[in-house]
Amino acid sequence: MTVTIVGSQLGDEGKGALVDLWGGDADVVVRYQGGDNAGHTVVEGGEEYALSLVPSGAVRGKVGVLGNGCVVNPRTLFEEIGTLRERGLDPDVRVAKRAHVIMPYHRRIDGIEEGAKADSDSGVEVGTTGRGIGPTYEDKAGRRGVRIGDLLDPEVLRERLEYVVPQKRALVEDVYGLEAGEELDVDALHEEYARFGRRLREEGMVVNCSDFLYERREAGDDVMFEGAQGTLIDVDHGSYPYVTSSNPTAGGAATGTGVGPTVTGRGEVVGVVKGYLSRVGEGPMPTELDGDEREEALASDIREKGGEFGTVTGRPRRIGWLDVPMLRHATRVNGYTGIAVNHLDVLAGLDELKVGHAYELEGEERLSLPATTERWGECEPVYREFDTWEEFDADAVSEGGYEALPGAAREYLEYLEDQLDTPVHAVGVGPDREQTVVRTNPWT
Ligand code: IMP
Repeated sequence: MTVTIVGSQLGDEGKGALVDLWGGDADVVVRYQGGDNAGHTVVEGGEEYALSLVPSGAVRGKVGVLGNGCVVNPRTLFEEIGTLRERGLDPDVRVAKRAHVIMPYHRRIDGIEEGAKADSDSGVEVGTTGRGIGPTYEDKAGRRGVRIGDLLDPEVLRERLEYVVPQKRALVEDVYGLEAGEELDVDALHEEYARFGRRLREEGMVVNCSDFLYERREAGDDVMFEGAQGTLIDVDHGSYPYVTSSNPTAGGAATGTGVGPTVTGRGEVVGVVKGYLSRVGEGPMPTELDGDEREEALASDIREKGGEFGTVTGRPRRIGWLDVPMLRHATRVNGYTGIAVNHLDVLAGLDELKVGHAYELEGEERLSLPATTERWGECEPVYREFDTWEEFDADAVSEGGYEALPGAAREYLEYLEDQLDTPVHAVGVGPDREQTVVRTNPWT
């Protein structure tokens, strides 16, 4: 049995809480894309752990795997594992040999390219997390990347570095006219990354991901695929170029782990939806609350109440009403078997509540997204108003179940079920993992 958890919007939908909740029933939790650009806070035994790379399952005594579709920064990986060990945990993390390595020059180039885009006035600045994600995936597609398996063989690692580093140096020095530093010193890189390779081997952390997951499934293990980021920042299905460089959508669970789509597709695919919308970084957001002072004050309330500040970067997130055309797109792209709607508590007590039901573009009403970001930016939302609901006791509602939710909140959820033709499996009503109304457990 497999369960795939996917972000339906722009990331930060609160996937971590669901992965926590349902990951408890899994034996193995696998990330299939992205790297240390993701951020999730795991609360376990009253302790809070902020992680960006280690799969949250590894904090709970599960096996946490970073699949071949991930990009792995070994510095971050060992730093996070070190912090967890200092706090008395013993995380079991495995890394795919086919996963690509984020090298220090990738981070440097990420920063340089973002700066160049900003200076160019071209409007293509993405607002990346600066973790070197894009440049690493570029090298993967360009067949000049360094993979985890390469770190295990010092000679191969040297060959890879001797080919690629002079190119990166030329980019930094000759194209951008900047000074190269340690991040472009082959010997220093070789020393540090061969050391990481030895450590990965000694600690038994490297796996052939596809074989490993096959064997675990044959032995009867349940596997959860944990998507990072969200559908609208998917490099194929998102608002290109304001996207990350991987596939957070459900198809990525197959290509990013080596478990075939007939297997992942027989399992459950749950889309996580935040009850409103947030965005970090650039790009269109038709339902953004930024029209006037009143809207800005509302956005600021929601931001504070929902803790809408980047986990990785601390940046305040842009806030908007729920965008339903975006969710129709996400439902089609991911093939959801159910959705989980989060943060209904954040919407409680508002004076007004709207959703972007459709878009208007050139006088026509549209129910889904245009394929180009420029056209998407021209869309005007067609709003629907909903009755608001009062603040409620999250613990009592979690215990009382779906019927204990305020009637107006249930109407909101049922509207979504109807529009997306997908059942609501769970509803997040508070920040704690337990503060979730579960209607359907995807494992059963
Ligand atoms: P990158 O992944 O660092 O290359 O950033 C590309 C875009 O994806 C930027 O707009 C980031 O803000 C966004 N992004 C990357 N990771 C996350 C995430 O975990 N949550 C929300 N946005 C993200």
